[in-house]
Amino acid sequence: MAQRTGNSQGMDDTERPSVAGMGQHLPLQPVIIVAERIAGRLRVRNHGIEVQVVKRYHACAFFLLPTVLPFLHQDHKELLMPETKITTPTTLVVGAGELGLAVINGLLERHPENVGSISVLLRPSVDAVQEQLARQLQDKALHIVRADLATETVEGLAAIFAPFTTIICCTGFVGGPGTQRKITKAVIQAGVERYVPWQFGVDYDVVGHGSGQPVFDEQSDVRDLLRGQSATEWVIVSTGMFTSFLFKPAFGLVDLERPRVHALGSWDNRLTVTTSNDIGRLTAAILAHEPRIRDEVVYVAGDTFSYAQLADMVEGHLGRDAERVLLDMDQLRSEVASHPDDGMRKYRLAFARDTGVAWDKDRSFNVAQGIDLTDVSRWLKQRKGA
Ligand SMILES: NC(=O)c1ccc[n+]([C@@H]2O[C@H](COP(=O)([O-])OP(=O)(O)OC[C@H]3O[C@@H](n4cnc5c(N)ncnc54)[C@H](OP(=O)(O)O)[C@@H]3O)[C@@H](O)[C@H]2O)c1
Repeated sequence: MAQRTGNSQGMDDTERPSVAGMGQHLPLQPVIIVAERIAGRLRVRNHGIEVQVVKRYHACAFFLLPTVLPFLHQDHKELLMPETKITTPTTLVVGAGELGLAVINGLLERHPENVGSISVLLRPSVDAVQEQLARQLQDKALHIVRADLATETVEGLAAIFAPFTTIICCTGFVGGPGTQRKITKAVIQAGVERYVPWQFGVDYDVVGHGSGQPVFDEQSDVRDLLRGQSATEWVIVSTGMFTSFLFKPAFGLVDLERPRVHALGSWDNRLTVTTSNDIGRLTAAILAHEPRIRDEVVYVAGDTFSYAQLADMVEGHLGRDAERVLLDMDQLRSEVASHPDDGMRKYRLAFARDTGVAWDKDRSFNVAQGIDLTDVSRWLKQRKGA
């Protein structure tokens, strides 16, 4: 019927039947027996063709699809062919900034053997710094793909994305308004199997539209696009704010030098934060999780605290009092009204709320999986020691 491949690595010889005797192992209806890594991409169950998954290698596992296909009934071939991609899983990380590099490190730390199957999308290089980054990534055996997310069309991006089985978008709000919608449409159009969109932030289902930060509105649109289709599986990693962003002088929340802590809206309002390194590790863990996580929002949390607790932590770290300044809603709204083009003021307004920007650490993926993350106190200690 079908031929075995030459590769017998991992095969259990005691269970290896002869080719002639194979018939007794196969039922009368068409059956395709594949290794688990391929099975996730076969969506044929509801067409009367059964997919059996083998974890333990058995001779049957080596009946790879191309050798089985000639023996299938024509009807079954037609059902199978358009829905089946026989490719080695490949991953494209879009962007190699703070988050992109952390995600690449997380993927390599978890599966160093997969290095050859990971590509990174960078913009067409214009300076020596970008060239140097590309060389460093190539030295790690990663492949470089070039595209300008700001100017590339949906069709152009779809053509770039099509060869990949997994795409992880690590370029937040670069490229201007509409870029995340455009990337998402291109991923869906390309028929990419699995997508991790740029949603490494707040709970956009709760925050919804009209938060005062237009980039948050776009994130809600991305969720609508993903939920409105079934061709591409997606996983959203909800991380809260990047821990580094909490201390970013331009954001103006914590000033460690002065020292001063601002509360957004109320001292009781809470925030969840996660470091970019931990987001990278967790994204890799979530993608590798068994059973496979499909079409779900996964909540992670490096730390969750109120602004009052944040001020306590800063004081504890510095060993002296910090000035505490409350920015109330009226003040935050009027600042946005008088500086309508200032993204940071919009962020301060959007984060000033008691829902959607924080969740209990106890119900996070990392706590459920026993994965230890860097909380704010540890982050501050590491920063001091750096
Ligand atoms: N959750 C949060 O707390 C939070 C808060 C605020 C902002 N963010 C957002 O997080 C985003 C991503 O985080 P990050 O820190 O990794 O950002 P980042 O360090 O700025 O990295 C962005 C990446 O995208 C690339 N890029 C920029 N413009 C591009 C274009 N037109 N075409 C192709 N690639 C392009 C950059 O390349 P180059 O190096 O060549 O520019 C870089 O590799 C940021 O955009 C930021 O807006 C997150």
